[in-house]
Amino acid sequence: MYYETTKELLDFIKKSPTAFHAVEEMQNRLTEKGFQVLSEKEHWKLVPGGNYVVTRNHSALIAFSIPEKESWKFHIIASHSDSPSFKIKENPEIVVEKKYVKLNVEKYGGMLMAPWFDRPLSIAGRVIVRKDGKLEERLVNFDRDLVMIPNLAIHMNREANSGISYNAQKDMFPLFSMGGKDVSLQKLLGEQLGVDGKDILSHDLFLYDRMEGSIWGAEREFASCGRLDDLQCAFASMEGFVRAKKADCIAVHCVLDNEEVGSGTKQGAASTFLKDTLLRIHNGLGRTYEEYLMTLADSFMISADNAHALHPNYADMTDPVNHPLLNEGIVIKYNANQKYCTDAVSAAFFKDLCDRAEVPYQTFVNRSDMAGGSTLGNISNTQVPMNTVDIGLPQLSMHSPYETAGVKDTSYFIKVAEEFFA
Ligand code: CO
Repeated sequence: MYYETTKELLDFIKKSPTAFHAVEEMQNRLTEKGFQVLSEKEHWKLVPGGNYVVTRNHSALIAFSIPEKESWKFHIIASHSDSPSFKIKENPEIVVEKKYVKLNVEKYGGMLMAPWFDRPLSIAGRVIVRKDGKLEERLVNFDRDLVMIPNLAIHMNREANSGISYNAQKDMFPLFSMGGKDVSLQKLLGEQLGVDGKDILSHDLFLYDRMEGSIWGAEREFASCGRLDDLQCAFASMEGFVRAKKADCIAVHCVLDNEEVGSGTKQGAASTFLKDTLLRIHNGLGRTYEEYLMTLADSFMISADNAHALHPNYADMTDPVNHPLLNEGIVIKYNANQKYCTDAVSAAFFKDLCDRAEVPYQTFVNRSDMAGGSTLGNISNTQVPMNTVDIGLPQLSMHSPYETAGVKDTSYFIKVAEEFFA
């Protein structure tokens, strides 16, 4: 059962090389299930029993279902669509010795840089095309081995195996062509999209790893793929959301962008996207602002972002007791300084939920002498205050272009999400 789910997850991620593609893929799947697409630019006509989806910047998505009977409180699962990568700069071509063409890139988020070397990469994202006097947004994915970041040979750096400090303005440029100054990415984009390269006015393009997802291990316990953080949670949230027999709450599947760069954008967790959407739902159902505030106080959010599993070679890097393992269930994350918003109240609610869904859970706390990461729960809470638990699925090698998780945990999360949205 969970193999099928893991294969579906890997298939979803394959179709989602960037946040734009992930949102497009989720919106397609939801509209296939009868969800109605709403635009933030238009009036919303909402009815009990209705299923809706709205996007912002085409990189963040909120889907919601309104129950038939009057039940106003929100049950929300929030995850994120973006992952660390290299973004293509403006005027990206840098020519070396009149032949090599490499692409100028900058870091998006905090990635492990070393694993980006010596593997086939491609380019995907969105471009803005001028067509018949209008500006059109188009998704693009070359979907072929297109660029590579070659390592420097060991003979030219004998210290390479003692640790390298990488400089993003020197070491990380992907090799693109041997065609010298006649080669341009814009021209290739034009060919890919069937438009004149000159009509492509701007772009948000990222590198992505071409290696497909893999299920491996002596008993096929492991699943590896790019962007498991956080598409594994986004996928599980969506699956639980569409499968749930939603009856007693307004179920909200929320996937925000830009978590990896601090969430402070119009489509990130610090934005008003979730708040605006929840308010418009209540307005659309004829509720007052005070009633909306009363509802928030009675609502619950699961902030879902992947968690660090204990690393087999670095067991001492985790807390001696609260260290999750792959395939051992959903991770509840705690932090005294509230980088994670889990508290006694929200943890108890979530543990009870897991018990009801018959799903195992485990706990994560950073070593007390390590800062650790942060996520979207506490940032979102400053816009939309409600009881929130921070959870995630256990994984290794977070922020590598190829991450590793357990084959069972996605199914566990889907089951809990189903229970939560019901
Ligand atoms: Co994440």
